[in-house]
Amino acid sequence: MKIIQDNKPIIENNNLCLVPTMGALHEGHISLIKTAKETDNEVIVSIFVNRLQFNDPIDFENYPRDLEKDLYMLKEYDVDFVFVPEEEYIYPQSGFELLSAGELGKRYEGISRPGHFDGVITVVNRLFEIIKPNIAIFGKKDFQQVFLIKKLIEDKKFETKIIENETLRANSGLALSSRNLHLSEKGLDNAQYIYKSLRAVKTNFLKTKNLEMAIKEGEQILSMKNIGLDYLEILDLETFSPLAPTTKKLIIIIAVLIENVRLIDNIQFEVEEN
Ligand code: PAF
Repeated sequence: MKIIQDNKPIIENNNLCLVPTMGALHEGHISLIKTAKETDNEVIVSIFVNRLQFNDPIDFENYPRDLEKDLYMLKEYDVDFVFVPEEEYIYPQSGFELLSAGELGKRYEGISRPGHFDGVITVVNRLFEIIKPNIAIFGKKDFQQVFLIKKLIEDKKFETKIIENETLRANSGLALSSRNLHLSEKGLDNAQYIYKSLRAVKTNFLKTKNLEMAIKEGEQILSMKNIGLDYLEILDLETFSPLAPTTKKLIIIIAVLIENVRLIDNIQFEVEEN
């Protein structure tokens, strides 16, 4: 495993699959790495805590960092390269392109995290410029992030292909997230209703084709458990916008607050006709 701080050793390599991370690696990242290893590319994991995607500088300062532990883990999984750039390398004083995620970056997650997606696509753009990966792997749970990165690829004509990794779930259906660790036992028990409500909305929508009724059913499940809802929406998967008469592929997105911990999830499905 080679540890890299600038692009010299990787610039020649045109057979790379990138797993971008901000470190503090957990089983979600391991699943991304396993997917990367199934491609016939060499696997490069980047570790960079991206200041630009934090709305609150205190959150950035407090973001967990344990490079030694991360490197130990990556060695276990036999990745080929670990890219650990200094901030000045990603964001040089001489200038870099500060990108905007546009209107879509201001909706849903973007409402409670202003500027977050501008920071995400700015850093992903830099990583793609430097590493030029054939493939990059992202988790499906962060659907808005994946959507905006796909748009970045289109806009910038990058040749990188995206693999969307399935969301890992506990037996209860709860999407695995490092944030689940901040929940009490009761909070964890309640959190399973996030996925239950997504499934209920899907079933109701497929049966009734009535968007409001379907959403209401999900809201009721959450309110019975006193779960604070931020948003619950049924959208067109391909435009990440409200349903159109032609919509065939759908996504239901949700964000809730349980014990002050913000959790997101989504499910995707298809309909024959709307
Ligand atoms: O999903 C993440 O961990 C981050 O948003 C990413 C893609 C590594 C960019 O900093």
